[in-house]
Amino acid sequence: MASLVASLQSHDDTFKRQVARLLREGRPPINVVDERSQPDVTPDLVIMDGRSGLSAAMSAMERLRASTPTVSIFLVVSTVSSELILQSMHSGANEVMAWPPSDGAFQDGIRRFSERRRASGGPVRTSSVLTFIGAKGGVGTTTLAVNCGVELAGKKKRTVVVDLKPGLGDAALFLGVHSRYTVLDAIENSHRIDASLLDGLLAKHLSGLELLPGSDQFHRPTGADGEAIASVLNLLMDRCEYTVVDAGCQINASALAALNASAIIHVVMNPDVPSIRNARRLIECIAEMGFTGERVRVLLNRACEPYPIPFNEIEDALGSKVFLTVPSDYKSVATALNAGVPLTFGNNADIAKQFGRLVRSILNPTAAVEPEPPRKTGFRFPRFASAR
Ligand SMILES: Nc1ncnc2c1ncn2[C@@H]1O[C@H](COP(=O)(O)OP(=O)(O)OP(=O)(O)O)[C@@H](O)[C@H]1O
Ligand SMILES: [Mg+2]
Repeated sequence: MASLVASLQSHDDTFKRQVARLLREGRPPINVVDERSQPDVTPDLVIMDGRSGLSAAMSAMERLRASTPTVSIFLVVSTVSSELILQSMHSGANEVMAWPPSDGAFQDGIRRFSERRRASGGPVRTSSVLTFIGAKGGVGTTTLAVNCGVELAGKKKRTVVVDLKPGLGDAALFLGVHSRYTVLDAIENSHRIDASLLDGLLAKHLSGLELLPGSDQFHRPTGADGEAIASVLNLLMDRCEYTVVDAGCQINASALAALNASAIIHVVMNPDVPSIRNARRLIECIAEMGFTGERVRVLLNRACEPYPIPFNEIEDALGSKVFLTVPSDYKSVATALNAGVPLTFGNNADIAKQFGRLVRSILNPTAAVEPEPPRKTGFRFPRFASAR
Protein backbone atom coordinates (compact mmCIF):
# COMPACT_ATOMS: atom_id res chain seq x y z
CA MET A 1 0.00 0.00 0.00
CA ALA A 2 1.44 3.34 -0.93
CA SER A 3 1.90 5.53 2.08
CA LEU A 4 1.54 9.27 1.54
CA VAL A 5 2.78 11.72 4.12
CA ALA A 6 1.69 15.24 5.00
CA SER A 7 3.27 17.98 7.06
CA LEU A 8 1.23 20.54 9.02
CA GLN A 9 2.54 24.12 9.13
CA SER A 10 0.75 25.69 12.08
CA HIS A 11 1.39 26.83 15.65
CA ASP A 12 -2.15 25.93 16.68
CA ASP A 13 -2.48 22.51 18.37
CA THR A 14 -6.25 22.34 17.78
CA PHE A 15 -5.68 22.95 14.06
CA LYS A 16 -3.02 20.23 13.97
CA ARG A 17 -5.24 17.72 15.77
CA GLN A 18 -8.27 18.33 13.58
CA VAL A 19 -6.36 18.33 10.31
CA ALA A 20 -4.39 15.21 11.31
CA ARG A 21 -7.69 13.48 11.97
CA LEU A 22 -9.11 14.49 8.58
CA LEU A 23 -5.94 13.25 6.88
CA ARG A 24 -6.01 9.90 8.62
CA GLU A 25 -9.66 9.43 7.70
CA GLY A 26 -8.91 10.30 4.07
CA ARG A 27 -9.16 7.94 1.11
CA PRO A 28 -6.32 7.16 0.87
CA PRO A 29 -5.35 7.74 4.50
CA ILE A 30 -2.39 10.10 4.82
CA ASN A 31 0.16 9.92 7.60
CA VAL A 32 1.35 13.07 9.34
CA VAL A 33 5.07 13.69 9.81
CA ASP A 34 6.55 15.91 12.44
CA GLU A 35 9.22 17.94 10.69
CA ARG A 36 11.15 18.62 13.89
CA SER A 37 11.75 14.95 14.56
CA GLN A 38 11.72 13.81 10.91
CA PRO A 39 13.56 16.56 9.05
CA ASP A 40 14.69 14.17 6.29
CA VAL A 41 11.17 13.28 5.17
CA THR A 42 9.89 15.14 2.12
CA PRO A 43 6.11 15.38 2.52
CA ASP A 44 3.79 14.72 -0.41
CA LEU A 45 1.34 17.28 0.95
CA VAL A 46 1.74 20.42 3.10
CA ILE A 47 -1.21 21.95 4.93
CA MET A 48 -0.43 25.61 5.56
CA ASP A 49 -2.27 27.51 8.29
CA GLY A 50 -2.73 31.03 6.88
CA ARG A 51 -5.33 32.25 9.38
CA SER A 52 -2.92 34.48 11.25
CA GLY A 53 -0.09 35.81 9.14
CA LEU A 54 -1.40 35.32 5.62
CA SER A 55 1.51 37.07 3.93
CA ALA A 56 4.04 34.87 5.81
CA ALA A 57 2.07 31.82 4.63
CA MET A 58 2.15 33.10 1.03
CA SER A 59 5.95 33.57 1.19
CA ALA A 60 6.40 30.12 2.77
CA MET A 61 4.32 28.60 -0.08
CA GLU A 62 6.43 30.35 -2.71
CA ARG A 63 9.64 29.00 -1.14
CA LEU A 64 8.15 25.53 -0.87
CA ARG A 65 6.89 25.52 -4.46
CA ALA A 66 10.36 26.57 -5.67
CA SER A 67 12.25 24.00 -3.60
CA THR A 68 9.84 21.06 -4.01
CA PRO A 69 7.83 21.44 -7.22
CA THR A 70 6.02 18.09 -6.78
CA VAL A 71 4.55 18.86 -3.35
CA SER A 72 0.84 19.63 -3.06
CA ILE A 73 -0.11 22.58 -0.85
CA PHE A 74 -3.45 23.22 0.87
CA LEU A 75 -3.84 26.73 2.28
CA VAL A 76 -6.32 27.13 5.15
CA VAL A 77 -7.59 30.67 5.78
CA SER A 78 -10.29 32.37 7.87
CA THR A 79 -12.33 33.62 4.91
CA VAL A 80 -12.08 32.66 1.26
CA SER A 81 -12.54 35.26 -1.50
CA SER A 82 -11.98 34.97 -5.24
CA GLU A 83 -9.12 37.46 -5.01
CA LEU A 84 -7.45 35.39 -2.27
CA ILE A 85 -7.85 32.17 -4.28
CA LEU A 86 -6.11 33.78 -7.26
CA GLN A 87 -3.28 35.16 -5.14
CA SER A 88 -2.81 31.80 -3.34
CA MET A 89 -2.70 29.88 -6.62
CA HIS A 90 0.02 32.26 -7.85
CA SER A 91 1.97 31.58 -4.67
CA GLY A 92 1.76 27.83 -5.27
CA ALA A 93 -1.35 26.59 -3.42
CA ASN A 94 -3.26 23.72 -4.99
CA GLU A 95 -6.31 24.11 -2.75
CA VAL A 96 -7.63 26.96 -0.63
CA MET A 97 -10.20 26.29 2.08
CA ALA A 98 -11.85 28.19 4.92
CA TRP A 99 -11.39 27.11 8.52
CA PRO A 100 -12.89 24.87 9.73
CA PRO A 101 -13.14 22.88 6.50
CA SER A 102 -16.13 20.58 6.14
CA ASP A 103 -15.22 16.89 5.97
CA GLY A 104 -16.64 16.75 2.44
CA ALA A 105 -14.63 19.73 1.14
CA PHE A 106 -11.44 18.44 2.73
CA GLN A 107 -11.88 14.91 1.38
CA ASP A 108 -12.61 16.31 -2.11
CA GLY A 109 -9.28 18.12 -1.88
CA ILE A 110 -7.55 14.90 -0.80
CA ARG A 111 -9.13 13.03 -3.71
CA ARG A 112 -7.88 15.64 -6.19
CA PHE A 113 -4.45 15.55 -4.54
CA SER A 114 -4.15 11.77 -4.84
CA GLU A 115 -5.37 11.89 -8.45
CA ARG A 116 -2.66 14.47 -9.20
CA ARG A 117 -0.05 12.19 -7.60
CA ARG A 118 -1.22 9.24 -9.65
CA ALA A 119 -1.35 11.22 -12.89
CA SER A 120 2.13 12.68 -12.38
CA GLY A 121 3.51 9.22 -11.60
CA GLY A 122 5.36 11.00 -8.78
CA PRO A 123 7.54 9.00 -6.46
CA VAL A 124 5.18 7.47 -3.93
CA ARG A 125 6.60 5.48 -1.11
CA THR A 126 5.50 1.87 -1.30
CA SER A 127 6.20 0.90 2.24
CA SER A 128 3.62 0.09 4.89
CA VAL A 129 3.66 0.01 8.64
CA LEU A 130 1.41 -2.72 10.04
CA THR A 131 0.77 -2.29 13.75
CA PHE A 132 -0.46 -5.05 16.06
CA ILE A 133 -1.85 -3.82 19.37
CA GLY A 134 -3.42 -6.05 22.01
CA ALA A 135 -6.74 -5.42 23.77
CA LYS A 136 -4.91 -6.67 26.85
CA GLY A 137 -1.79 -8.59 27.81
CA GLY A 138 -1.37 -12.18 26.67
CA VAL A 139 -3.96 -12.15 23.85
CA GLY A 140 -1.36 -13.16 21.25
CA THR A 141 -0.21 -9.80 19.87
CA THR A 142 3.43 -10.87 19.57
CA THR A 143 2.46 -14.27 18.16
CA LEU A 144 0.36 -12.73 15.39
CA ALA A 145 2.82 -9.90 14.66
CA VAL A 146 5.87 -12.13 14.27
CA ASN A 147 3.99 -14.82 12.33
CA CYS A 148 2.66 -12.12 10.02
CA GLY A 149 6.26 -10.94 9.54
CA VAL A 150 7.42 -14.48 8.71
CA GLU A 151 4.54 -14.88 6.23
CA LEU A 152 5.45 -11.65 4.43
CA ALA A 153 9.14 -12.58 4.37
CA GLY A 154 8.07 -15.96 2.94
CA LYS A 155 6.39 -14.05 0.10
CA LYS A 156 9.79 -12.44 -0.62
CA LYS A 157 8.66 -9.11 0.76
CA ARG A 158 11.39 -7.24 2.56
CA THR A 159 9.97 -7.12 6.07
CA VAL A 160 11.12 -6.01 9.51
CA VAL A 161 9.43 -6.62 12.84
CA VAL A 162 9.89 -3.89 15.45
CA ASP A 163 9.20 -4.83 19.05
CA LEU A 164 7.96 -1.65 20.73
CA LYS A 165 6.42 -3.25 23.78
CA PRO A 166 7.47 -1.25 26.83
CA GLY A 167 9.40 -3.28 29.37
CA LEU A 168 10.91 -6.51 28.20
CA GLY A 169 9.93 -7.29 24.61
CA ASP A 170 9.84 -10.92 23.58
CA ALA A 171 9.57 -10.97 19.77
CA ALA A 172 13.26 -12.03 19.55
CA LEU A 173 12.59 -14.89 21.93
CA PHE A 174 9.61 -16.03 19.85
CA LEU A 175 11.74 -15.97 16.72
CA GLY A 176 14.68 -17.65 18.44
CA VAL A 177 17.10 -14.92 17.32
CA HIS A 178 19.86 -13.46 19.44
CA SER A 179 21.04 -9.92 19.10
CA ARG A 180 23.35 -7.59 21.02
CA TYR A 181 21.12 -4.68 20.12
CA THR A 182 17.58 -3.60 20.89
CA VAL A 183 15.16 -0.88 19.90
CA LEU A 184 16.74 1.24 22.67
CA ASP A 185 20.02 1.39 20.71
CA ALA A 186 18.08 2.72 17.72
CA ILE A 187 16.23 5.24 19.92
CA GLU A 188 19.39 6.47 21.62
CA ASN A 189 21.17 6.95 18.30
CA SER A 190 18.16 8.28 16.41
CA HIS A 191 19.81 11.71 15.89
CA ARG A 192 22.69 10.14 13.92
CA ILE A 193 21.23 6.88 12.67
CA ASP A 194 21.55 6.12 8.98
CA ALA A 195 20.92 3.09 6.80
CA SER A 196 24.23 1.35 7.60
CA LEU A 197 23.99 1.90 11.36
CA LEU A 198 20.40 0.64 11.26
CA ASP A 199 21.52 -2.44 9.32
CA GLY A 200 23.92 -3.33 12.13
CA LEU A 201 21.14 -3.12 14.72
CA LEU A 202 18.78 -5.53 12.96
CA ALA A 203 18.75 -9.25 13.79
CA LYS A 204 18.06 -11.75 10.99
CA HIS A 205 15.62 -14.66 11.19
CA LEU A 206 15.84 -17.91 9.18
CA SER A 207 12.88 -16.81 7.07
CA GLY A 208 14.67 -13.67 5.85
CA LEU A 209 12.65 -11.54 8.23
CA GLU A 210 14.60 -8.79 9.99
CA LEU A 211 13.97 -7.78 13.58
CA LEU A 212 14.59 -4.77 15.74
CA PRO A 213 14.37 -6.55 19.10
CA GLY A 214 12.44 -5.20 22.06
CA SER A 215 13.69 -3.28 25.05
CA ASP A 216 15.80 -5.00 27.68
CA GLN A 217 14.90 -2.44 30.34
CA PHE A 218 11.71 -2.49 32.39
CA HIS A 219 11.10 1.28 32.21
CA ARG A 220 11.81 1.87 28.48
CA PRO A 221 10.67 2.98 25.93
CA THR A 222 9.04 5.91 27.76
CA GLY A 223 6.90 8.87 26.74
CA ALA A 224 10.06 10.79 25.91
CA ASP A 225 11.00 8.24 23.21
CA GLY A 226 8.04 8.90 20.89
CA GLU A 227 9.82 11.28 18.51
CA ALA A 228 12.89 9.04 18.25
CA ILE A 229 10.66 6.05 17.50
CA ALA A 230 8.91 8.00 14.74
CA SER A 231 12.25 8.69 13.04
CA VAL A 232 13.42 5.08 13.42
CA LEU A 233 10.16 3.86 11.85
CA ASN A 234 10.67 6.31 9.06
CA LEU A 235 14.14 4.96 8.29
CA LEU A 236 12.82 1.40 8.40
CA MET A 237 10.12 2.39 5.89
CA ASP A 238 12.86 3.51 3.50
CA ARG A 239 14.48 0.09 3.86
CA CYS A 240 11.58 -2.36 3.91
CA GLU A 241 8.31 -2.96 2.13
CA TYR A 242 6.62 -3.91 5.40
CA THR A 243 7.40 -2.73 8.92
CA VAL A 244 5.43 -4.89 11.34
CA VAL A 245 5.14 -3.32 14.80
CA ASP A 246 4.38 -5.23 17.99
CA ALA A 247 3.01 -2.30 20.00
CA GLY A 248 2.16 -4.28 23.16
CA CYS A 249 -1.20 -3.51 24.73
CA GLN A 250 -1.06 0.12 25.81
CA ILE A 251 -1.58 3.42 24.05
CA ASN A 252 1.65 5.14 24.98
CA ALA A 253 4.15 7.34 23.11
CA SER A 254 5.69 4.37 21.26
CA ALA A 255 2.33 2.96 20.24
CA LEU A 256 1.21 6.44 19.11
CA ALA A 257 4.29 6.83 16.92
CA ALA A 258 3.47 3.46 15.33
CA LEU A 259 -0.25 4.21 14.95
CA ASN A 260 0.54 7.53 13.28
CA ALA A 261 2.67 5.80 10.67
CA SER A 262 0.35 2.81 10.19
CA ALA A 263 -1.33 1.77 6.99
CA ILE A 264 -3.19 -0.94 8.91
CA ILE A 265 -3.83 -1.27 12.65
CA HIS A 266 -4.60 -4.79 13.87
CA VAL A 267 -6.39 -4.89 17.20
CA VAL A 268 -5.76 -8.33 18.70
CA MET A 269 -8.22 -9.85 21.15
CA ASN A 270 -9.52 -13.16 22.52
CA PRO A 271 -13.16 -14.28 22.73
CA ASP A 272 -13.48 -13.58 26.47
CA VAL A 273 -15.24 -10.87 28.44
CA PRO A 274 -12.26 -8.75 29.61
CA SER A 275 -10.75 -8.88 26.15
CA ILE A 276 -14.01 -7.79 24.47
CA ARG A 277 -14.49 -4.94 26.95
CA ASN A 278 -10.91 -3.68 26.49
CA ALA A 279 -11.00 -4.11 22.72
CA ARG A 280 -14.10 -1.95 22.51
CA ARG A 281 -12.40 0.78 24.56
CA LEU A 282 -9.23 0.50 22.50
CA ILE A 283 -11.14 0.74 19.20
CA GLU A 284 -13.04 3.79 20.51
CA CYS A 285 -9.86 5.41 21.71
CA ILE A 286 -8.04 4.97 18.40
CA ALA A 287 -11.16 6.13 16.52
CA GLU A 288 -11.06 9.37 18.53
CA MET A 289 -7.54 9.84 17.21
CA GLY A 290 -8.87 9.52 13.67
CA PHE A 291 -8.03 5.87 12.95
CA THR A 292 -11.23 4.32 11.67
CA GLY A 293 -12.75 2.32 8.84
CA GLU A 294 -10.82 -0.25 6.87
CA ARG A 295 -7.59 0.87 8.40
CA VAL A 296 -8.50 -0.78 11.73
CA ARG A 297 -8.88 -4.55 11.68
CA VAL A 298 -9.95 -6.71 14.61
CA LEU A 299 -8.20 -10.08 14.87
CA LEU A 300 -9.94 -12.57 17.14
CA ASN A 301 -7.14 -14.87 18.29
CA ARG A 302 -7.50 -18.23 20.01
CA ALA A 303 -10.94 -18.48 18.51
CA CYS A 304 -12.48 -21.94 18.85
CA GLU A 305 -15.92 -23.10 17.92
CA PRO A 306 -18.38 -23.27 19.47
CA TYR A 307 -17.66 -19.82 20.89
CA PRO A 308 -18.38 -19.42 24.63
CA ILE A 309 -19.94 -16.10 23.64
CA PRO A 310 -21.98 -16.19 20.40
CA PHE A 311 -19.94 -14.63 17.63
CA ASN A 312 -22.57 -12.05 16.68
CA GLU A 313 -22.69 -10.91 20.32
CA ILE A 314 -18.94 -10.43 20.31
CA GLU A 315 -19.27 -8.16 17.29
CA ASP A 316 -22.27 -6.33 18.80
CA ALA A 317 -20.38 -5.68 22.01
CA LEU A 318 -17.32 -4.52 20.09
CA GLY A 319 -19.32 -2.23 17.84
CA SER A 320 -17.04 -3.48 15.04
CA LYS A 321 -16.78 -6.46 12.75
CA VAL A 322 -14.13 -9.09 13.40
CA PHE A 323 -11.83 -8.98 10.39
CA LEU A 324 -10.29 -12.40 10.91
CA THR A 325 -10.33 -15.26 13.41
CA VAL A 326 -7.22 -17.27 14.26
CA PRO A 327 -7.79 -20.74 15.72
CA SER A 328 -6.17 -21.86 18.94
CA ASP A 329 -3.24 -24.23 18.42
CA TYR A 330 -0.21 -23.60 20.60
CA LYS A 331 1.94 -26.27 18.94
CA SER A 332 1.44 -24.85 15.46
CA VAL A 333 2.09 -21.21 16.35
CA ALA A 334 5.18 -22.00 18.41
CA THR A 335 6.83 -24.64 16.20
CA ALA A 336 6.40 -22.70 12.97
CA LEU A 337 8.43 -19.84 14.42
CA ASN A 338 11.14 -22.15 15.77
CA ALA A 339 11.51 -23.68 12.31
CA GLY A 340 11.39 -20.29 10.57
CA VAL A 341 8.51 -21.53 8.46
CA PRO A 342 5.35 -19.53 7.68
CA LEU A 343 2.21 -20.90 9.34
CA THR A 344 0.66 -21.26 5.89
CA PHE A 345 3.11 -24.17 5.35
CA GLY A 346 2.33 -25.76 8.72
CA ASN A 347 0.19 -28.77 9.63
CA ASN A 348 -2.85 -26.89 10.89
CA ALA A 349 -5.02 -26.32 7.84
CA ASP A 350 -7.33 -23.84 9.62
CA ILE A 351 -4.48 -21.65 10.86
CA ALA A 352 -2.82 -21.89 7.43
CA LYS A 353 -6.03 -20.75 5.77
CA GLN A 354 -6.48 -17.81 8.12
CA PHE A 355 -2.88 -16.63 7.84
CA GLY A 356 -3.18 -16.93 4.07
CA ARG A 357 -6.21 -14.63 4.28
CA LEU A 358 -4.42 -12.19 6.57
CA VAL A 359 -1.41 -11.89 4.28
CA ARG A 360 -3.54 -11.55 1.14
CA SER A 361 -5.49 -8.76 2.84
CA ILE A 362 -2.18 -6.99 3.53
CA LEU A 363 -0.69 -7.52 0.10
CA ASN A 364 -3.91 -6.44 -1.58
CA PRO A 365 -5.62 -4.10 0.90
CA THR A 366 -8.28 -2.85 -1.50
CA ALA A 367 -9.57 -6.33 -2.45
CA ALA A 368 -12.95 -7.39 -1.10
CA VAL A 369 -12.73 -9.09 2.30
CA GLU A 370 -12.75 -12.86 1.87
CA PRO A 371 -15.71 -14.35 3.76
CA GLU A 372 -14.97 -16.73 6.61
CA PRO A 373 -16.61 -20.16 6.74
CA PRO A 374 -20.02 -20.29 8.51
CA ARG A 375 -19.81 -20.52 12.30
CA LYS A 376 -21.56 -22.83 14.73
CA THR A 377 -23.63 -20.98 17.33
CA GLY A 378 -22.42 -21.14 20.92
CA PHE A 379 -24.22 -20.86 24.23
CA ARG A 380 -24.78 -17.57 26.01
CA PHE A 381 -22.03 -16.77 28.48
CA PRO A 382 -23.76 -15.78 31.73
CA ARG A 383 -21.44 -12.86 32.72
CA PHE A 384 -21.44 -11.37 29.27
CA ALA A 385 -24.19 -8.81 29.81
CA SER A 386 -22.03 -6.98 32.35
CA ALA A 387 -19.19 -6.58 29.84
CA ARG A 388 -20.80 -3.76 27.87
N1 LIG B 1 -3.66 -18.92 18.27
C1 LIG B 1 -3.02 -19.39 19.33
N2 LIG B 1 -3.17 -20.66 19.73
C2 LIG B 1 -2.53 -21.15 20.81
N3 LIG B 1 -1.69 -20.44 21.57
C3 LIG B 1 -1.50 -19.16 21.25
C4 LIG B 1 -2.14 -18.57 20.11
N4 LIG B 1 -1.74 -17.29 20.04
C5 LIG B 1 -0.90 -17.09 21.08
N5 LIG B 1 -0.75 -18.19 21.79
C6 LIG B 1 0.08 -18.38 22.98
O1 LIG B 1 -0.37 -17.47 24.00
C7 LIG B 1 0.73 -17.00 24.75
C8 LIG B 1 0.70 -15.49 24.74
O2 LIG B 1 0.95 -15.07 23.42
P1 LIG B 1 1.76 -13.73 23.11
O3 LIG B 1 3.01 -13.64 23.92
O4 LIG B 1 1.85 -13.63 21.66
O5 LIG B 1 0.72 -12.67 23.67
P2 LIG B 1 0.94 -11.11 23.87
O6 LIG B 1 -0.39 -10.51 23.73
O7 LIG B 1 2.02 -10.63 23.00
O8 LIG B 1 1.42 -11.07 25.39
P3 LIG B 1 2.15 -9.89 26.17
O9 LIG B 1 1.06 -8.99 26.62
O10 LIG B 1 2.82 -10.60 27.31
O11 LIG B 1 3.12 -9.24 25.23
C9 LIG B 1 1.98 -17.59 24.12
O12 LIG B 1 2.37 -18.72 24.86
C10 LIG B 1 1.51 -18.01 22.74
O13 LIG B 1 2.25 -19.09 22.20
MG1 LIG C 1 3.76 -9.62 23.44
